[in-house]
Amino acid sequence: MTLPILTLLAAVYLLCTLVGASVYIPVASTSLGRINGILCDGDVSDVASFRGIPYAKPPVGRLRWAAPVKYSTNYPLEGLDAISPGSKCRQGTEGDEDCLFLNVWAPAKAIGAPKPKLPVRVFIHGGGYQTGAGSEDMYDGCKLVQDGKVVFVTMNYRLGILGFMAAPELRDSSADFGVGNWGLLDQRLALQWVRDNIAAFGGDPKKVVLSGESAGAYSTLLHLVTPGSRGLFSAAASFSGSADAMAVDFLRDAYTKGTNIRAALNCSIDKIADRGYANIPDCLRNTPVDIIMAVQAALGLRTVDYCVPTIDGVEIIKHPVTLMEQGRVAKVPILLGVNANEGALEVLAQTGSATNIELRRFYEVVTNLIPVPVTYYERVYEQYDADAFFDGNWIIAAFHAVTDGGYHCPSRRAAKNLAKHGISVRYHILEASQPNSGCPVYVSTGVYLGQEITDLVGALHGYDIPFTFMAPYRSPYNLCRFTDDEKQLASFLSGIINGMAANRNGAPLPPRTKSLTSPALKDIPNWPVWNTTSSLVMDINTAGPELYAAEDIGLDAKCQLWDDILADAIAAGSTAYT
Ligand SMILES: *[C@@H]1O[C@H](CO)[C@@H](O)[C@H](O)[C@H]1NC(C)=O
Ligand SMILES: *[C@@H]1O[C@H](CO)[C@@H](O)[C@H](O)[C@H]1NC(C)=O
Repeated sequence: MTLPILTLLAAVYLLCTLVGASVYIPVASTSLGRINGILCDGDVSDVASFRGIPYAKPPVGRLRWAAPVKYSTNYPLEGLDAISPGSKCRQGTEGDEDCLFLNVWAPAKAIGAPKPKLPVRVFIHGGGYQTGAGSEDMYDGCKLVQDGKVVFVTMNYRLGILGFMAAPELRDSSADFGVGNWGLLDQRLALQWVRDNIAAFGGDPKKVVLSGESAGAYSTLLHLVTPGSRGLFSAAASFSGSADAMAVDFLRDAYTKGTNIRAALNCSIDKIADRGYANIPDCLRNTPVDIIMAVQAALGLRTVDYCVPTIDGVEIIKHPVTLMEQGRVAKVPILLGVNANEGALEVLAQTGSATNIELRRFYEVVTNLIPVPVTYYERVYEQYDADAFFDGNWIIAAFHAVTDGGYHCPSRRAAKNLAKHGISVRYHILEASQPNSGCPVYVSTGVYLGQEITDLVGALHGYDIPFTFMAPYRSPYNLCRFTDDEKQLASFLSGIINGMAANRNGAPLPPRTKSLTSPALKDIPNWPVWNTTSSLVMDINTAGPELYAAEDIGLDAKCQLWDDILADAIAAGSTAYT
């Protein structure tokens, strides 16, 4: 009897070894132990991914609304299996509070290299600080890593009320009494993880480009001005970002929001004793997350009402624009990129259709997104008068106002202030490709707008994402018929971010890659930085980039209004909500 069993065991053993031999497991050795990854599928199998790596202790219980604490538990001997994404952070009914995970992609053969030297690209996702996750399929790094020979990292960070609520009682005594920037601190902890661990994946911690889109771009600029994030990145690329409009709250305004939330959660001072709590933080931290989400849904109808990072005087010492004016920033090369028609998405999300609106509604739509004091209504009217400039179409007027006030002008403001201090600043405007296949919007939202609306909205907010993430080359997005020009644009836009980490001077010039073949895009001799006398805007379009003076494309003139509104708000220390 024994013999056949032994033979059988031997056969099973042999079989396992054979099967095992065909499955290559990429392993990165870090100070906490080994991390086991997985190779990407199909034509990107020379790239490894490591998903769902915890970088902080779960931010629950006493750690809710507190600075994140570094993850420090040793991995099991056989290694940490990092083959599926961790939970995204709680948003509505989705995700979990235990969500502080990051993801790494690296060329398989770079992992464990004795001299780690690959440039590193870190991405902070957008979603208005309320939604999103680093693990979304669109942000998958397999293709961009293969093409760009970089190491790529995305992270989750706390969102909404859980990520950004400020209340006086939540001042963090373990973190110099900072308040309201929990999600931003998560991002920083992830950057510190990159500094400490990325060499195990073949990345050079001295060549890190911090990039982000939308709220991720706002965050990128905030890390530029927060002293605590100094030294964690060597270049920064902000796509559709701002360091002011929609990006940050004055402490007073953040406290007003926090006080309303506290009351809605029945955690006000007059309620806590009845509910058996000794203090407000205990009441807040013991509130089930479902109730917090219900309150968030009930409160958050307007973008200006959302919880966002706070100028708490500790992490964000002063208004970011003031810090930039004073040159109190990380002195690294920076790229400020905006899309030509940023405002279209946010305006249409409110109106629900492209049908014309009345003047009253125009103000409402604009001020739901960007606070404009009533005293400025007349100047807004003069500058965006639909009857004078847009054939009577107030939707188009709103596109322009939100594009300028929320994106183009804040980025210009940052560029001017940073350039004054000798920082290498470059500014670009991404135009919709001609012809526009409609794929960029379709693959990222699942909605095909039809040719007429596609042409009307052009390069709206988020238009850049499928390009910077190489979607035209990736399954299943490549099922949409991107044009050849759009594919080249993807290689270019992904390339300029990689270039900022790879090029010694941080210039956003794309390194040579297999996929970038268009002569108009691959051989840009020079991309001049801004200085006190010259502000050249790179207009990026499928025909090739062209340089224009900011003045000549009307950027300077139209931004005076928005500069004045912001200067008033900073002087008052409050955003004038209408
Ligand atoms: C707060 O208390 C009121 C009155 O007791 C109750 O109706 C409401 O549901 C409570 N809200 C929450 C979020 O618990
Ligand atoms: C400013 O930039 C322009 C364009 O790159 C350049 O020609 C000029 O010399 C620069 N001026 C200064 C003062 O650096």
